[in-house]
Amino acid sequence: MSNSSVKDQSKNSIKIGLLGLGNVGVEVARILEEESSDLSVRSGAPLEIVKVGVRDGSKPRPQFSKNLITQDLQSIVTDPEISIVIEVMGGIEPARTLILTALANKKSVVTANKALLAKHGSELYQAAHENGVDLYYEAAVAGAIPILRPLRESIVGDHVTRIMGIVNGTTNYILTKMDEEGADYHQVLKEAQKLGFAEADPSADVEGEDAAAKLAILASLAFHSEVRGEDVFCQGISHLTSHDIDIAKAIGHVIKLLAIAERGDDGQISVRVHPALIPRSHPLASVRNSFNAVFVEAKSAGEMMFYGRGAGGEPTASAVLGDLVAIARHISFGGLGSRESGYANLAIAPIGTVFTRYLIRLDVADRPGVLATVANTFANHKVSIQTVRQSGRGEDAELVVMTHAATDRDLSATVASLSELEIVKKVESVLRVEGVES
Ligand code: HSE
Repeated sequence: MSNSSVKDQSKNSIKIGLLGLGNVGVEVARILEEESSDLSVRSGAPLEIVKVGVRDGSKPRPQFSKNLITQDLQSIVTDPEISIVIEVMGGIEPARTLILTALANKKSVVTANKALLAKHGSELYQAAHENGVDLYYEAAVAGAIPILRPLRESIVGDHVTRIMGIVNGTTNYILTKMDEEGADYHQVLKEAQKLGFAEADPSADVEGEDAAAKLAILASLAFHSEVRGEDVFCQGISHLTSHDIDIAKAIGHVIKLLAIAERGDDGQISVRVHPALIPRSHPLASVRNSFNAVFVEAKSAGEMMFYGRGAGGEPTASAVLGDLVAIARHISFGGLGSRESGYANLAIAPIGTVFTRYLIRLDVADRPGVLATVANTFANHKVSIQTVRQSGRGEDAELVVMTHAATDRDLSATVASLSELEIVKKVESVLRVEGVES
């Protein structure tokens, strides 16, 4: 290409500022360069990264020209030449302020920052709207899987009743290994860290916070209501034992960390992340290793499942680039993406009122009358038992009780009463059961 045509191309190109050069940022830059001619045609103009903002300037980045990289992140979001900012640095600050500044400077933004959106989504969506620019974030939930655009656009004419997702790859990998190899939680976590599937500090993943942030974003779109990460009831997987997995297996179930948002008959929405048994016949049971899937139920469409890679630099970059091209098309040909709507303003149901089935494992004395006392305790709290299994253990026995649907409040009261019984040595575990009619 001659010097003058390079100049012409640069003059007409859509200028992009990239904030963050981790796994995702590097892949976004690589794909943009490798696929530049196709992406230019699809976008209506060449796409050109003109600045890359990093916090640590000392890291070697041989694939990037020195002129491109800056530690002055503010200079990117205020640069009049830049029309689109891609934020893939993560964290709440300075990401929030940088995005707000970019929007105030009439730049459209693509972000993969689930924690930020789950906390400050409304403020950011409003700022994008007021400034007449786009804010897209497909990569923030379930990596490469297109799920936000379907919720915002394809099924916006339907009435979503429930979303049930496996939206954290780390925990799904751990649970898959526990299920398929009979491995212990701590052992698998260590292996996952060695293989790079789990972070050195895995708490946001294994305690469910990452999934809760993603669920808040999904629920907000699905139910046209503001749902924040802090609204989501959240329980992780670190307390699960291989015995829990074995019991689930014995009754034809598998344990998954589920992110569930559902609309109750009372018009409230319940949002929760917790491990749960699901039947092996349920579509989500076949989602293995670090894959993600989101199962959506809507009044007219019925059941749908979106499946794919939920993490990793390249898959996440695919979602970022999809948003980038969509915004670039708006710049080239006019238009603006559809905005979030919070008109329904549905209230969040307190977890105590949410109905689920439960599996309770009790370590009890093995003598006459024990079963009757245990059954009475459930009955006293109006929790209906579906099945009881007992296995002997010398003087002791293990009782595994499956309930019909009960509220969290009634179940918790039942468990508290069971714990006080002299014949109950220990309430070993309490797990929810999903994916079956109550
Ligand atoms: N840590 C997440 C996971 C990916 O394990 O799925 C980024 O959200």
